[in-house]
Amino acid sequence: MKARVLSGIQPTGSPHIGNYLGALKNWAKIQYDYDSIYCIVDLHAVTVYQQPAELRAKIEELAGMLLAIGIDPLHSSLVVQSAIPQHAELAWMLTCVTPLGWLERMTQFKAKSQAQETIGDGILQYPVLMAADILLYQAAIVPVGDDQSQHLELARDIAQRFNSLYGETFTMPATHLPTVGARIMGLDDPQKKMSKSETGSGHAVSLLDPPAVIRKKILRATTDSNPAVEFDSPAGHPGPGVRNLLTIFQAFTGWSDDNTQAHFTGMRYGDLKKQVAEAVISALEPIQTRYQEIMADRGFIARVLANGAERITPIAQDTVNKVKKAMGLYSDS
Ligand code: AMP
Ligand code: TRP
Repeated sequence: MKARVLSGIQPTGSPHIGNYLGALKNWAKIQYDYDSIYCIVDLHAVTVYQQPAELRAKIEELAGMLLAIGIDPLHSSLVVQSAIPQHAELAWMLTCVTPLGWLERMTQFKAKSQAQETIGDGILQYPVLMAADILLYQAAIVPVGDDQSQHLELARDIAQRFNSLYGETFTMPATHLPTVGARIMGLDDPQKKMSKSETGSGHAVSLLDPPAVIRKKILRATTDSNPAVEFDSPAGHPGPGVRNLLTIFQAFTGWSDDNTQAHFTGMRYGDLKKQVAEAVISALEPIQTRYQEIMADRGFIARVLANGAERITPIAQDTVNKVKKAMGLYSDS
């Protein structure tokens, strides 16, 4: 039997090249080697207010995008989290074995709670629900970007604690990061992770941006005061902005470090940016074409999501039954 892979993405904002290079590209790549489940995590999205009609539309659009980047519904189960109630059910049981201190230590919790006046309990519980997503299917491998590493460590801690309290129940999930592109930075500010929630127009390249917009955003990307690309210079070049552009280039083209250095050494930043922009445009073009085709058949998307849920619900129910039995909760199965 193939090992199981599970990952998730929130249906908020517009998926960008950071999501693609950090996670989605890997999802499509490894799906044939594993039994794969990819989840649109709408219950995570509502930890902050979402305009209902917009959220509903974004779920379908994200499903269309995941199919467009190559998730193959004949091999992978593509599902919406809230369609499978066992996610929320298991999350409660895991909440009860999770010390509050573990959750308060999460970097994302600290950042999000500092930015808001009132903090919803969902923001604190967020990583427990994420642990439930993973443990529900006994996933062995979780392909994510670097920003999720801490949440995954927590998922392992929760699994371990449950197993030691109630007996071996959960598989320990391993984090799977891409070798290049695990953390793509904002184009406007290379100190900040590229994020869906940043609204600045020069911050992120959306997977649906037309070529002219991609060119404009990349040509305006923040670099440094050096005029041309240098590697490992005593002055610390390349700086973070140039490094980020080179990472984007390498992640899209698959070029090695040696080839990249040989090609770009001494190149003026303007030319570097043009070449990065063209690499991004040509990689996104086929995805955008497929996306338009897929979105013209909403019935297809609905069938894919329904089939995915039907295929994996028995696995989720089996785990919930096991957990209930282990904990002594009432169950007639
Ligand atoms: P999210 O948009 O937060 O639902 O993230 C979906 C996936 O994209 C997760 O696996 C993240 O780790 C990954 N991701 C998000 N932003 C970035 C980024 N700037 N660089 C690399 N991976 C990212
Ligand atoms: N928290 C993840 C993010 O924001 C999304 C997510 C939810 C996830 N459940 C998951 C990722 C399970 C991997 C596995 O990116």
